[in-house]
Amino acid sequence: MLKEIENRRSVRRYLSRKVEKEKLDAVFESARLAPSGSNTQPWAFILVESEETKKKLSDADHHQDWMAAAPVFIVAVADIRCRIPGNTEIKLEEDSPEPELKQIIRDTAIAVEHILLEAEHLGLAACWTGWFEQDDVRAILNIPGDKYVCGIIPLGYADENPKPRPRKAMSEIVRYEMWH
Ligand SMILES: Cc1cc2nc3c(=O)[nH]c(=O)nc-3n(C[C@H](O)[C@H](O)[C@H](O)COP(=O)(O)O)c2cc1C
Repeated sequence: MLKEIENRRSVRRYLSRKVEKEKLDAVFESARLAPSGSNTQPWAFILVESEETKKKLSDADHHQDWMAAAPVFIVAVADIRCRIPGNTEIKLEEDSPEPELKQIIRDTAIAVEHILLEAEHLGLAACWTGWFEQDDVRAILNIPGDKYVCGIIPLGYADENPKPRPRKAMSEIVRYEMWH
């Protein structure tokens, strides 16, 4: 496991090579099996292959033009209805007061990390992106306002081999028994 964790990179250049269906299935399976608070599994994933939609999404994502070269995007969506069922009016924003928003983002983030690591395991590359406004992405993909878009993940075969990005030293992040 540590090998995949060590080798994974955020990749921002992709080959046009298609991603095999079996590999996409495995990537989604890794997300499906992720842990979540009270096993609520608040995630849903939209697979986008349309060139037109990918272009619209990368424009909405702060015009990160490099994204559109990836053959597929996975859009990770968190659904608060797993915790607040019914049809009460809920419109989620970055700063929505619902405490459940933090929980569904937390859980969906775990599933996205599974996707990134399974992609690495399968020889694929990806990059979590999140530089967008909720309503812009919702409008492109017909996502209702009570769902929260956690990330747009371009996925494909890498056309670059980035060096490891810096990480904090172990001594900075691990404490023993108490904070101090
Ligand atoms: C929540 C989140 C949002 C991110 N958004 C973007 C983004 O919009 N554009 C981008 O190029 N990279 C984005 N990244 C990638 C980070 O820049 C990257 O993970 C970090 O620099 C460490 O590099 P590494 O993933 O190659 O180890 C995002 C990562 C996370 C976890």
